Amino acid sequence: MIIAANLKTNFTRKETNAYIAELDNFVKSNSVSQEVLVFPAPSSLDDNATDIVVGTQNAYPTKEGAFTGELGLVHLEEFSIKTILIGHSERRHIFGETQELLVKKFNFYKDLGFKIVYCVGEPLAKREAGKEEMMEYISAQYEGIDTEYENLIIAYEPVWAIGTGLTPTLEDIEDVHTALKEKSKAPLLYGGSVKVTNAKEVLSLNNVDGILVGSAALYAEHFCSMIQFAQEIENN
Ligand code: 13P
Repeated sequence: MIIAANLKTNFTRKETNAYIAELDNFVKSNSVSQEVLVFPAPSSLDDNATDIVVGTQNAYPTKEGAFTGELGLVHLEEFSIKTILIGHSERRHIFGETQELLVKKFNFYKDLGFKIVYCVGEPLAKREAGKEEMMEYISAQYEGIDTEYENLIIAYEPVWAIGTGLTPTLEDIEDVHTALKEKSKAPLLYGGSVKVTNAKEVLSLNNVDGILVGSAALYAEHFCSMIQFAQEIENN
C-alpha cells in the first residue's frame, strides 16, 4: 500500500528532516514494505537519502525562468526529487489552478517520468447534489489526464472532508473508489480527515490502495501507526 503525508505549510527544513529521519527509522526497524511518501513544504526540501520517498507539493511546468514564487525542475533535480502532487484541492480552490494548468503540469512532469499523485474530489454542494452530479464533477477532473500513465497514483479527497474532521461513511468511500477504479487502474488513495482512529478501517476497504494524510500526519507517531496498520493488513 501507499501511505503518504502531505505536510502542507508546516515544519521548517530542520523539523522536516527530523520527521523524515523518524519515519525512516520506523520503516527500517519494523521491516516495512509499504511505500511511504512525504510531501514537505517547498523550502523544506533537502537531500534525504532514506527509504522515505520525498515529493514536492507543487512545481511549475518549467525547467526554470520568470515565474515568481514557483519552483521549477532545476529546484527538484537539486534534491533528486522525482515525485509530485498535482491537483490538490487547496491548489485548485485557494490558488485557482485550472484544469488546463493542471494538465500542463501533468504532461510536463509525466514526460520526465515523475511519479505523479493526482488529486480529485468534490466540494460539499456537489456531494449534496446527488451521485450523478458528483461523479460528473469528479470526471471533469480526469479530463486531459493520461489515466494509463505507469507512474500515476490517484488520490480521492472530498474537499469538504479536508481538515474538517468530517469523512464520508466507509460505504461511501468504497462506493466512490469502486467507480473511480473504472476510470483508471492506477493505485487509488483516500484522503480527507484520515486519523489514527479511522485509518485501519479506511485501509481495509475494497479499492483503497492507501491514504493521503494531512493534519494527523504531523504527529510522526500517529503516521507511523498508520504505516503499521497498512503493513498488518498486507501481512494478513
Ligand atoms: P487532512 O488529513 O488534514 O484532512 O488533509 C488531507 C489532505 O489534504 C491531504 O492532502
